[in-house]
Amino acid sequence: MPGKLAAGNWKMNGVSASLAQLETLAANHPDPSVEILICPPATLVSKAADAAGPIRIGGQDCHANTSGAHTGDISADMLKDAGATHVILGHSERRTDHGETDQQVHDKVLAAWASGLVAVICIGETLEEREKGVTNQVLGKQLEGSVPDGALAANTVIAYEPVWAIGTGKIPSLDEITQTHSFIRGFLAAHHETAEAHGMRILYGGSVKPDNASEIFALNNVDGALVGGASLKAADFSAIVNALEASATGV
Ligand code: PGA
Repeated sequence: MPGKLAAGNWKMNGVSASLAQLETLAANHPDPSVEILICPPATLVSKAADAAGPIRIGGQDCHANTSGAHTGDISADMLKDAGATHVILGHSERRTDHGETDQQVHDKVLAAWASGLVAVICIGETLEEREKGVTNQVLGKQLEGSVPDGALAANTVIAYEPVWAIGTGKIPSLDEITQTHSFIRGFLAAHHETAEAHGMRILYGGSVKPDNASEIFALNNVDGALVGGASLKAADFSAIVNALEASATGV
């Protein structure tokens, strides 16, 4: 089974000079005991892959088709060719900014798998949905629609990111995170039958910072984090990686 995963999502941030942060991160973790992934903007994937050392590089989206008349889009094959091993799909900002549906995310996941990329599939409820008490229904529907048959621990990671926790400094209570991850684990076990699928990693995302990472990583069924803002600076992300390493070894 793959190990724990600390994933950074740079979103629409970063130019060539930002690769210095990646180089520092790589120097800080020459032999990591957890998997480390950075997803820079597409323009930097190739250069980042060259500078990454033991750190894996991913895209932030891909098209469902392999090539063709889709101006401005990027295929999974192109990401793979540029050196990516992973791709984030269905991030709430893509679902909101670009109206991505579960079906579209599902089709992109198939494209990612066909190119040999690991799909990091994002799901999450809005504040209104959590307050209405429909979080599990919303997440169940997203999982059902976005995660294709054939999902395995080796080709898929689920990132649970409450929309209201992204970039806000707010996080759910630790009990809420535990309950939600347990729901996701149960849902995956019920819908994806192989033992391999049962080991799929479930990341928590949304305002993960150096000062809250350890308590989140101590929770059951939290296999790492998807980190936005705190992945931009090597010092912050290194602290999160260290917290994940400590949780994985029980230190
Ligand atoms: P944040 O973003 O860590 O800045 O809240 C998380 C994400 O959107 O992946």
